[in-house]
Amino acid sequence: MTGTANEQARKTAEGLVYATGFGNEHSSEAVPGALPTGRNSPQRAPLGLYAEQLSGSAFTEPRAANHRSWLYRIRPSAAHPPFVRAEPRAVRSAPFTECAPDPNRLRWNPLPDPEGPTDFLDGLWTLGGNGDAAQRSGMAVHLYHANASMERRVFSNADGELLIVPERGGLLLRTELGLLRAVPGEVALIPRGVRFRVELLDTAPDGQGPAARGYVCENYGQPFRLPDLGPIGANGLANARDFRAPVAAYEDVEGPVEVVNKFCGNLWTATYDHSPLDVVAWHGNHVPYVYDLRCFNVIGSISYDHPDPSIFTVLTSPSDTPGLAGVDFVVFAPRWLVGEDTFRPPYFHRNVMTEYMGLIEGAYDAKAEGFVPGGGSLHNMMSAHGPDRETFDKASAAELVPQKIDDGLAFMFETRWPLTLTAQARDAGHLQRGYDDVWQGLQRHFRL
Ligand SMILES: [Fe+2]
Repeated sequence: MTGTANEQARKTAEGLVYATGFGNEHSSEAVPGALPTGRNSPQRAPLGLYAEQLSGSAFTEPRAANHRSWLYRIRPSAAHPPFVRAEPRAVRSAPFTECAPDPNRLRWNPLPDPEGPTDFLDGLWTLGGNGDAAQRSGMAVHLYHANASMERRVFSNADGELLIVPERGGLLLRTELGLLRAVPGEVALIPRGVRFRVELLDTAPDGQGPAARGYVCENYGQPFRLPDLGPIGANGLANARDFRAPVAAYEDVEGPVEVVNKFCGNLWTATYDHSPLDVVAWHGNHVPYVYDLRCFNVIGSISYDHPDPSIFTVLTSPSDTPGLAGVDFVVFAPRWLVGEDTFRPPYFHRNVMTEYMGLIEGAYDAKAEGFVPGGGSLHNMMSAHGPDRETFDKASAAELVPQKIDDGLAFMFETRWPLTLTAQARDAGHLQRGYDDVWQGLQRHFRL
């Protein structure tokens, strides 16, 4: 990708407008009169467009859980040649069977920079996951690194929705339903089956062309929704109005476009004779969105004790058991700590849930060093974790004046099932050796 294309993508991203709200019935038309009124599927759709429904839930799921959008497009999605198996890349899907589930605490440095031109799809690298993509259950943790925009190529994922967490470099996401910009500090969600292309907005720190790096939570299960607020009340945590959905934008492009589809864990490819990002108007609630994590309204303790991190849940994918998430997305955003007679950093913990943590910027208050932006840690089911020795010593002796935590943005994918690594994550050169050492030297203080 050239610097000019980079510049072009940036200019496009700057001018974007959005619809707002979470879970709304949105509607949008890129050309006046393209959206039918009064019915979804008129005998002849306006402007010679084809009407097509995209179902993200079964027709019969309860209204509150029903996800679908109606798309009005230049050609129906059905007009495509056969898919054939594509070159395998570094993206993997559940079930993960290459490695035995590992009870050890594990931590990785950032994914090394890509070698050679690498777009978002080529640079998608799976760390591990759980469940079974074909059973629409479980999740996967991916990282990505890219130095090139996707060109004449789009990606779609039949296996689940993708929650993209940029850590370095902004992204322009061209989706069937329109364009989104997602920069570090924001997250973007691409719903199951929605085709999209990723263009890069920023150059690498060394100025050697565009670059992007980040995390992806692939959720095979129930679509992410906002958590219930219970006694918190009607407001707080991630407020619905801060979510942004795209407005309709289409490309009328003839000529070869590669469509790569991840289906039950395998990549399949077909070369279309047109771009499938040709939706001129749409309405519905199966939509991509972006959310700025800095909008998160952090609720915390104003008396004593460190609340459980579930209070920082941005999005949750519920399961059949109330309160038990397939996966939660949790953010540790800037906040005040005021607890009295309280050990303020996250407590020592063993958890039936499995915790993968990443860092978007700065530092995390339970780890003095070694946990760096772009890196990640995995504390699998029932593995013991908590503050490192340095953090413990400091926090145990700290004067408990009000303290602003504002030098970092960490997040967690917390899942109900243990997470099994891919072989590439187990054998990665960027897997840190000796992570256990951070808990060495925690002194015995017991005395009678
Ligand atoms: Fe924990």
